[in-house]
Amino acid sequence: MKSDIWIDAGTVKSLKKQRLSEIMAGNTRIALICKNGEFSAVSGECNHEKGPMAQGRMEGDYIVCPWHGWKYHRETGHAMPPFEIACLPRHEVHQKDGHIFIKSKPSNKRAHFPHPAHSLSRDVKRAKGPIRVAGISTTPMSKSLPRYSTSEDLLNSALAHAHSKFGAQTRLIKLRELKFSHCGGFYSIDEKACTWPCTFTQMDEKDQLTEVYEALVFWADVVIIATPIRWGNASSLYYKMAERLNCIENQILLSGKKLIKDKVASFIITGGQDNVQSVAGLMMMFFGELGFQLPQQSFIGHSRGWAAEDMANNAALVKSSGRLKKDARDLVDRAVDTARELLKR
Ligand code: FES
Repeated sequence: MKSDIWIDAGTVKSLKKQRLSEIMAGNTRIALICKNGEFSAVSGECNHEKGPMAQGRMEGDYIVCPWHGWKYHRETGHAMPPFEIACLPRHEVHQKDGHIFIKSKPSNKRAHFPHPAHSLSRDVKRAKGPIRVAGISTTPMSKSLPRYSTSEDLLNSALAHAHSKFGAQTRLIKLRELKFSHCGGFYSIDEKACTWPCTFTQMDEKDQLTEVYEALVFWADVVIIATPIRWGNASSLYYKMAERLNCIENQILLSGKKLIKDKVASFIITGGQDNVQSVAGLMMMFFGELGFQLPQQSFIGHSRGWAAEDMANNAALVKSSGRLKKDARDLVDRAVDTARELLKR
């Protein structure tokens, strides 16, 4: 198709009924805006991840992208200050014989706000060095009222063993100490709206889940996730993290990009009460979907059963249990053995 032709977008009468309409000029998406009877047109694709601008909403003179909320002026196409260097292509509009015509060729080029690529968007490559084991403790706890955690105690035992037996580098991440946003559910708008790096990570440099992404995607050969059982499930913090990890798995579906390769995941699950196997099943499934390999017997668990409400006794039991500490060490042995095999490939 010729690039400078005028597209008949439809009648003024019908187009006046909605503030935003998507008009196609060949393969080019255009957002037509009508405000107070005046028409203007800009590119129908957002600068960020090509979100469909015409499906957004108006906020004053700005169109808000429906995917992650970037805003552009309806007439100039410039992004909202302080990002006004960024600009969408604009298209000329005129009315004739009761119809709206849009020039297919834009009158300016798309301009992006200059910023360096996020560090998480670098290539995934294992840095040389000894085996590396990351532990993620997902138990919620008040900072001002710290308490003994059965799952975190066993995780600490596991990491200490990884270091002493295998000379592993270890890293303990306590999710409760990180400030991070819950998932925005962008995947539920459109699978392409769930990006890598996560959009929250890109847009908020203070979001601290970067520490988890760094460990899972780049640093660790083995990841051990420890959780308490809360009402038959993993902890609320575990799920807050898991939802933000959707962007890792989503890259496989979108473009076949495997961010997690040749890494091992194992789990420590403790509850004063029951449901170890169910929690393990869900965690194994999820981390498998992210791309982790599971060693044989990839979890250890502890629970004294539904009726055991005497939690102080449970804490004392785990604290003094040689068997559970041995279980944690054996878990590490299996995970590291599997990781070593994978690293030989
Ligand atoms: S804000 Fe438009 S695609 Fe992300």
